[in-house]
Amino acid sequence: MNAAQSPAASACTLLPALSTDAAELALLHAACFDDAWQADLIGRVLGSPGGFGILARLRQETVGLILCRSAAGEGEVLTLCVAAASRRRGIGRALLRGAVETALRRGLTSLFLEVAENNAAARALYAHLGFEPVGRRSGYYRNGLGIAVDALTLRCNLRFGTGKAISDSSS
Ligand SMILES: CC(C)(COP(=O)(O)OP(=O)(O)OC[C@H]1O[C@@H](n2cnc3c(N)ncnc32)[C@H](O)[C@@H]1OP(=O)(O)O)[C@@H](O)C(=O)NCCC(=O)NCCS
Repeated sequence: MNAAQSPAASACTLLPALSTDAAELALLHAACFDDAWQADLIGRVLGSPGGFGILARLRQETVGLILCRSAAGEGEVLTLCVAAASRRRGIGRALLRGAVETALRRGLTSLFLEVAENNAAARALYAHLGFEPVGRRSGYYRNGLGIAVDALTLRCNLRFGTGKAISDSSS
């Protein structure tokens, strides 16, 4: 698998994430989020019939992860993260493109996700790949200070919305 686009991201190897990677992926997740996912949960997602994920390896180290699941023809991005030291090199974009490509191969019609309204980095990334707001969940997240933050529900229409994003290797 090679959905990486920028020179830096192309130094990364993208691989299907397997249940057997769960412990390593949990360590990465814990380094990226306050509400870390346990290895057991990651393993269950990857082992479930609709579950799929991609990891990014840079010089033997796992530096990125996207986890998704599908049901009834639609997909959902459950989590996406890149190790802090490896950000802004195109790895997040490569992982998201990889997930979109996998979803297309699986015949999914849409990919949904939730993002905190104040997560400017993730929102910019999702907008680049054609994800558009379709809903809002009031107070869905708590930030580090316990303050409620709204979630935006974004959707990428895989039938009409991804041609530009997938073929536009310069952005
Ligand atoms: C969001 C995240 C996955 C992005 O990963 P990344 O590898 O740094 O992203 P990329 O380098 O592929 O960036 C792609 C585009 O996203 C946007 N972007 C990424 N980080 C950004 C930042 N800190 N500020 C503004 N825009 C940003 C930019 O438009 C960028 O394109 P550009 O570099 O050409 O300007 C990463 O910041 C992360 O893991 N954050 C913590 C976990 C998280 O918030 N996950 C998302 C939960 S919904």
